[in-house]
Amino acid sequence: MAIQRTFSILKPDATRRNLTGAINAKFETKGLRIVAQKRVRMSQAQAEAFYSVHAARPFFKDLVGFMTSGPVVVQVLEGENAVALNREIMGATNPANADAGTIRKEFAESIEANSVHGSDSPENAAIEIAQFFAGNEIVG
Ligand code: CMP
Repeated sequence: MAIQRTFSILKPDATRRNLTGAINAKFETKGLRIVAQKRVRMSQAQAEAFYSVHAARPFFKDLVGFMTSGPVVVQVLEGENAVALNREIMGATNPANADAGTIRKEFAESIEANSVHGSDSPENAAIEIAQFFAGNEIVG
């Protein structure tokens, strides 16, 4: 498997509790390199566009409200099999189903305030990275 990039968000529940370093330590110790990172406050339009695939879901409005409720840290993570590796490190979307040692098991507050987002495929990673980073902001 080749070196891949994936897109990651440390969500408002994580920044509010000062967990940026603790979560980044999980990525780095498990083999992902943070090749781009910035702290931003998402606009409603940005959050709606980012989660447009979920627009018809009952939780969409709350999700957009939550993602714009505080700062987030957007990141590009790089490594061998990065998309799948990051999903392993994050754990299941619902923290109640997440394995021990995963970010969501240790830190998530609920299925909505689940501390991190990670791309679900290399194709979506490329799309998501382009929504937040210019090419010259990613330093591998
Ligand atoms: P994320 O990986 O960012 O992708 C969509 C997000 O919607 C998900 O993590 C959760 O934070 C949020 N969400 C809220 N409710 C649900 C739900 N019932 N099922 C799936 N995702 C949900």
